[in-house]
Amino acid sequence: MSNIISIINNKGGTGKTTTVLNLGAALAKKKQRVLMVDLDSQCNLTSAFGADGTEQGVGELLTGKATINSVIIANGQLSLIPANEKLLDYEFLLNNEPGREYMLREQLEKVADDFDFILIDCPPSLGTLSTNSLVAANHFIVPMQAENFAFIGLDRIMLISEKVKKRMNPSLDLGGILFVKLAPRTKFSQAVIQSLTDNQNFAGKIFNTYIRQDISLMESGAFKQNVFDYAPKSRGAHDYSDLAKEILKLYGKK
Ligand SMILES: Nc1ncnc2c1ncn2[C@@H]1O[C@H](COP(=O)(O)OP(=O)(O)O)[C@@H](O)[C@H]1O
Ligand SMILES: [Mg+2]
Repeated sequence: MSNIISIINNKGGTGKTTTVLNLGAALAKKKQRVLMVDLDSQCNLTSAFGADGTEQGVGELLTGKATINSVIIANGQLSLIPANEKLLDYEFLLNNEPGREYMLREQLEKVADDFDFILIDCPPSLGTLSTNSLVAANHFIVPMQAENFAFIGLDRIMLISEKVKKRMNPSLDLGGILFVKLAPRTKFSQAVIQSLTDNQNFAGKIFNTYIRQDISLMESGAFKQNVFDYAPKSRGAHDYSDLAKEILKLYGKK
């Protein structure tokens, strides 16, 4: 059985795609079989994987126009279910489908034994597609920047995930909050992290690994590579490798 992790945050630009791409690559380097799923019609993950313009993707899969094995693109230990820009229209279609929140789960169950980890890259909203990811997942990870003390978005994600857990997926749990793009030595970011660490609701739920700010992370995606291929000695490669270690310790095969 694979461990299915939704990487979710209703804000854009919080490092979701960067985390799926590079955590996926880091886990694959550690001999894990990894499937990444692009649920964002902006297709950034698909582009970074070099699979732009693929005709058959997650939208076709969720609306029954393609089978799961026909949409998976494999590259060694690392596979992808791509997205294309038609995903927006398919999300609209899905909204009339009974049981629409279960469509991704239903499909991923078919390949759950073929992968150790399935990482889902969510769109920057909490609509039908993000709900699909929470219904399919065992854990969700919220990447965020230590940029202010207002964790309003986090409250909304927690509220929705609690509803999903209660009504649709009792096995859903917060995997953790991941601080990204961090300038760790600034007093301000330390203070923001501390304020969340002190919050009882998140006790023990903040990853020990922080992803530091690193230009290689920005450049690598744009050059259609993960950071391990693009800059193996960079801070980004180091941090995502640490994160993979931490995740394997938390929920890898014992
Ligand atoms: N640790 C980091 N250091 C520097 N830039 C980063 C880092 N993480 C992400 N970025 C950049 O920030 C932007 C937004 O990240 P992205 O992963 O696309 O966010 P999301 O998928 O949540 O919208 C991208 O340009 C990405 O390259
Ligand atoms: Mg993204």
